[in-house]
Amino acid sequence: MGFLDGRAVVITGAGRGLGRAFARHAAGNGAAVVVNDVDAEPACETAAAIVADGGTAVASVGSVADAGYARSLISLCGKRFGSLDGLVNNAAVGYHAPPWEDDDPERTRVLVETNVLGPLHCGTAAAKVMCAQGRGVIVNVTSGAMIGQRCAAAYSASKGAVASMTYSWAGDLAEHGVRVNAVSPIAWTRLMAADPKGNPDAPPPERVAPLVTYLLSDLSAGVTGQVLRLADGHLHAVRQPAIIRPVLHRETWTVEEIAAAVGSELVLESPPRERWTL
Ligand SMILES: NC(=O)c1ccc[n+]([C@@H]2O[C@H](COP(=O)([O-])OP(=O)(O)OC[C@H]3O[C@@H](n4cnc5c(N)ncnc54)[C@H](O)[C@@H]3O)[C@@H](O)[C@H]2O)c1
Repeated sequence: MGFLDGRAVVITGAGRGLGRAFARHAAGNGAAVVVNDVDAEPACETAAAIVADGGTAVASVGSVADAGYARSLISLCGKRFGSLDGLVNNAAVGYHAPPWEDDDPERTRVLVETNVLGPLHCGTAAAKVMCAQGRGVIVNVTSGAMIGQRCAAAYSASKGAVASMTYSWAGDLAEHGVRVNAVSPIAWTRLMAADPKGNPDAPPPERVAPLVTYLLSDLSAGVTGQVLRLADGHLHAVRQPAIIRPVLHRETWTVEEIAAAVGSELVLESPPRERWTL
């Protein structure tokens, strides 16, 4: 018996890396999987590997950045497997450049379209189906970069956007029986290999897969609006953006009064990097 018996899920960017591991683990736990990737060969290879293992999968080749394709990807799941129980918004790209050399607008556009519009297109199409059926689970894939990473502003911003859409959808969809969470992984993949600071000793993607299967399953019933991180064997929740008290109030604020408040009563947190230690 698997944790996802009888479920049907769509996993984007599942031809390689983490997405491939998520797809194989979900299938190994009984889910029928729609394996999306923009590259045909790895998408078909992942689907074939699942079928060879005795699982159920179909490949779907296309870019999640294309809203029309994203809608067809979501509807394929219902057409082939009879339902849409889960969506894992995993597909993403990255690049590294200091801000003064980050001057290729086409490269930035592709990143934002893939990493932000992609999950928005797939997630909104899935939300329509899941709201109508009164159940479903969305798992987004964010990154530790969401708090800011040097030489990766566009990627970091895109992953901050993924966290924000997770919090937003969780609020919108709770009353419709749909849960929305995000994972923040670390794994040695093509994406990490392209990072000048990538660590070849990072764990393989398979280590993160149980976290996604957990969030797709009923074992996580009641868990929504959360970012869970699994990095090098360390599992923890990620603090959500929130107001820091005290909150000071005046009808109007002058520049000098703001400066005085920041220098005295307001509590400022440390810069993000200093907070991101275990
Ligand atoms: N590897 C890490 O340590 C790490 C850390 C934090 C977050 N992540 C996140 O994990 C997810 C998976 O990354 P990975 O490391 O496995 O990368 P990867 O490059 O190994 O795999 C990403 C897959 O997405 C596919 N893809 C790219 N653009 C696409 C598009 N427009 N439509 C459909 N598929 C597309 C690629 O072809 C590839 O197969 C990403 O969201 C990434 O931001 C990874």
